[in-house]
Amino acid sequence: MLNFWNTLLSSQGFIPHGHCYLWKPDLVWLHIVSDGAIALAYYSIPITLLYFVSKRDDVPFNWVFGLFGAFIVACGTGHLMEIWTLWHPTYWLAGGLKAITAIISVYTALELVSLIPLALSLPSPAQLEAANRELEDALSQLQQTQSQLIQTEKMSSLGQLVAGIAHEINNPVNFIHGNLTYIHQYADDLLSLLRLYHATYPSPSAEIQKSIGAIELDFIEEDLPKTIDSMKIGADRIRQIVLSLRNFSRVDESDMKPVNIHDGIEGTLLILQNRLKAKSNCPSIKVVKDYGAVPQIECYAGQLNQVFMNILSNAIDALEQTNLESLSSQSQPYSGQITIQTNMVEQQQVQIQITDNGSGIPLATQTKIFDPFFTTKPTGKGTGLGLAISYQIVVQKHGGTLNCISTEQGTTFQITIPIRQSHPVLVRQAVC
Ligand SMILES: Nc1ncnc2c1ncn2[C@@H]1O[C@H](COP(=O)(O)OP(=O)(O)OP(=O)(O)O)[C@@H](O)[C@H]1O
Ligand SMILES: [Mg+2]
Repeated sequence: MLNFWNTLLSSQGFIPHGHCYLWKPDLVWLHIVSDGAIALAYYSIPITLLYFVSKRDDVPFNWVFGLFGAFIVACGTGHLMEIWTLWHPTYWLAGGLKAITAIISVYTALELVSLIPLALSLPSPAQLEAANRELEDALSQLQQTQSQLIQTEKMSSLGQLVAGIAHEINNPVNFIHGNLTYIHQYADDLLSLLRLYHATYPSPSAEIQKSIGAIELDFIEEDLPKTIDSMKIGADRIRQIVLSLRNFSRVDESDMKPVNIHDGIEGTLLILQNRLKAKSNCPSIKVVKDYGAVPQIECYAGQLNQVFMNILSNAIDALEQTNLESLSSQSQPYSGQITIQTNMVEQQQVQIQITDNGSGIPLATQTKIFDPFFTTKPTGKGTGLGLAISYQIVVQKHGGTLNCISTEQGTTFQITIPIRQSHPVLVRQAVC
C-alpha cells in the first residue's frame, strides 16, 4: 500500500512539463493563466448548480446535477494538475486523477442515456401552462356555478316564501273582497228598512228611542256606507299587493314567457318598500318612474326580477352609505333618489335604466363589480354575488347587455334585453 502511494506521488525519473515548453516564460505563463482560469470557472459551476438544486427541490432528477458537479470538479482539478506538473513531474498522480475523471464522466454519460426517456416524458412548460390555464378555467367556472347556486337558492327561498304568503293571503282576501259587495247591499237594505220603519212609526216606544240615542243611529247611518267603502279600498289594495307578490315570485314559471317588465319592477319595489321608507337619521328614498311604451318581452320573468332586485338593493345600499357620509361630514341627511326609466332602443330591444344619486363607484372598483364574490360591503352584509349573477342572467341567458356608468354624482345600470328570444342566445361583454 505504502508502495502504491510512493509511486503515485513520486516524480523520480521524469522531467517537469515546463521542459517541454523549453521554459519559455511567455508560453509557461500562457498555460498557467489559461489552466488557472479554466479551473476557477470549473469550480464555480458546481457551486451554482448546487445552489440551484438546494433552492428547487421540486426539480426532477436532481442527483444528475451532483454527477455533473463531480465531473466538472474533476476536470477543473485536472487543469490545476497541468500547472503543478510544469515544475513537479508527478505524472502518476496526474494520470490517476485523469482516470477518476474518466470514470465519473463515463458513468455520467451512461446515466444520461438512461435518463433521456424519463426526461422526454416530463411535461414541457407550454404543456404545464396549458394545463394551468385549463385548471384556472375550471376553477372560475366552478366559482360561477357556486355563485349561481347560492344566489338561485337565495332567490328561490325568497320567491317561495313570497309565493307562499301570497297564496295564503289570496283566498281569505278574495273571500272578504267578494262578500263586501253583499255587505254593502245588505247594509243599504237594512238602512232603507230602518228609514221605512221610522217613516211608518215616527213615535217609537221610549225604550227604542233610548236605544237609538245610545247607538247614535244617525251617525251609523252616515258612517256605515263609508266604512264599508274604505274596507273595499283596503281589500282592493291587499289584492293588488298579492298580485305583485305573485308576479315577483313567479315560482310557477320556469319557461320563457312574454311578460310586462313593469309588473316585475313594481313587484320588486313593493318587496323593497320597507327599505325605501324614512328611518331614524335616514330620509325616505324617492323613486321616480319614467316608464315608456314598451311591449311585453320574452324572458325568464323570475330571473329578470332577480336582476331588478339586485340592482335596486345595491342602489339603496349606496344611498344609505351616501347618507351616512353626508351626516358625518356635513351633519345633514342626504336626499336619495332612484330613477327607473324604460324605453325601446333600436334592434327590437327594451332598455331599463336604474339610476341612483349616490356617491358612485370609484374607477378602480368599476372593473371588478361583475366579478363573483367582489364586494366592498362589510363581512356578513354583501356576498359579492348580486351583479355577477345579474350579468349572467342578462348577458348569457337573455342575450342582452348590462352596462354600468358611474360618476361621483351617481350610478346608472343599463339593462338591454331583446324583446324576442328566437335567435340563439349571444354571449356579450358587460362593460363598465
Ligand atoms: N349603485 C351602486 N353604487 C355604488 N356601488 C355599487 C353600486 N352597485 C354595486 N356597487 C358596488 O359593486 C359591488 C358588487 O355588487 P354586488 O351586488 O355584486 O355585491 P354586493 O352588493 O356587495 O353583495 P350581494 O351579493 O349581497 O349583492 C358592491 O359591493 C359595491 O361596491
Ligand atoms: Mg348587491
